Amino acid sequence: MNILITGATGFIASHTIVELQQNNHDIIGIDNLSNSSIDTLDNIEKITKKKIDFYQIDIRDYDRLKDALKNHKIDCCIHFAGLKAVGESVSKPLEYYDNNINGTLTLLKVLKEIGCHNLIFSSSATVYGSPKFIPITEDCPKGICTNPYGWTKHMIEQILIDTQNATKDWNIVILRYFNPIGAHPSGLLGEKPNGIPNNLMPYITQVACGKREKLFVYGNDYNTHDGTGVRDYIHVVDLARGHVKALNAINNKCGVEIFNLGTGHGYSVLDVIHTFEKVNQIKIPYEITDRRPGDIATCYAKPAKAEKILKWCAEFTLEDMCRDSWNYQSKQR
Ligand code: NAD
Ligand code: UD1
Repeated sequence: MNILITGATGFIASHTIVELQQNNHDIIGIDNLSNSSIDTLDNIEKITKKKIDFYQIDIRDYDRLKDALKNHKIDCCIHFAGLKAVGESVSKPLEYYDNNINGTLTLLKVLKEIGCHNLIFSSSATVYGSPKFIPITEDCPKGICTNPYGWTKHMIEQILIDTQNATKDWNIVILRYFNPIGAHPSGLLGEKPNGIPNNLMPYITQVACGKREKLFVYGNDYNTHDGTGVRDYIHVVDLARGHVKALNAINNKCGVEIFNLGTGHGYSVLDVIHTFEKVNQIKIPYEITDRRPGDIATCYAKPAKAEKILKWCAEFTLEDMCRDSWNYQSKQR
């Protein structure tokens, strides 16, 4: 299939392109490079020995987007492009609503005009807010988001559902990611956060390489096995493979389908630290500090629906995630 990838040079999209190319799909990529580097394209090519048709375009730019895509036959779009820093979204809400929502609206308009009605969207477990039950199935009601980033995902999901409801020729798969970490085992692709990392694994790898003195563990008084927050960490390569499988749902004319992409296992912050230390033989100094506002105690998926319908399940272990995250970070020095 010819697959359009928005946000093509980003963390999750770059890994997904590798898996798609290895499954003989052809890629047209779009990115404005606001949070990624053009070098990613060379690194993808080093792994797959295949090129992608790449355009440096902001998806809010209707004219350039339409112009770039009008001569391509696109079978499906996988829409990753978006701003994703939770803290920044609180201080710059209008930028987040503009980029993520207007970007998606412009993309949908162009897709419709060029006759592509198949879309896979990168959503997040953040839409469950404080989940009504654990493990989280797709039936769990959506909750109150604690930040504008989360609301953009919440709202875009609704926009997609309404679009499909109005015009039944759309097929839309919404993938709710849990906590993607890890990196490509080659060490050529991974996550490069700007500034001080918000998320746990990039912070740990920056402590490991000496860039930061210690990790601050946000609270050890949660109702969890060791008091620290529990999450469903998923290897980015497993996540990427979930997108390849989601194409089958699109081909089967699924209407709208929502899938959780997680492992079904919850690990605490201390579990992650200790696994990282054991696998990589590096000590991670840490200090317990206050809870982070907006955090919840426990969040992990029940990925049974993806297993049953997409025939997908995560295969990499937490050990693999810790090893590959460090392998990538240590090559950046
Ligand atoms: P990323 O920042 O590495 O990738 C996003 C890419 O989109 C970047 O390359 C950026 O330059 C590009 N982009 C942003 N706005 C754009 C625009 N207007 N036009 C064109 N390109 C634009 O992020 P990621 O971690 O790879 O996340 C990919 C998607 O998955 C995002 O939508 C994110 O919200 C979602 N998601 C990520 C996580 C996570 O933990 N990483 C969890 C849940 C959902
Ligand atoms: C965060 C976002 C969520 C987003 C997800 C993936 C918040 C409140 N939520 O989820 O919207 O979809 O990232 O990008 O930011 N932790 C520490 N010290 C750190 C960093 C994190 O102890 O320096 C703890 C957290 O308290 C949490 C766990 O590690 O218990 C995971 O945190 P993080 O990686 O930021 O992911 P989430 O909070 O699950």
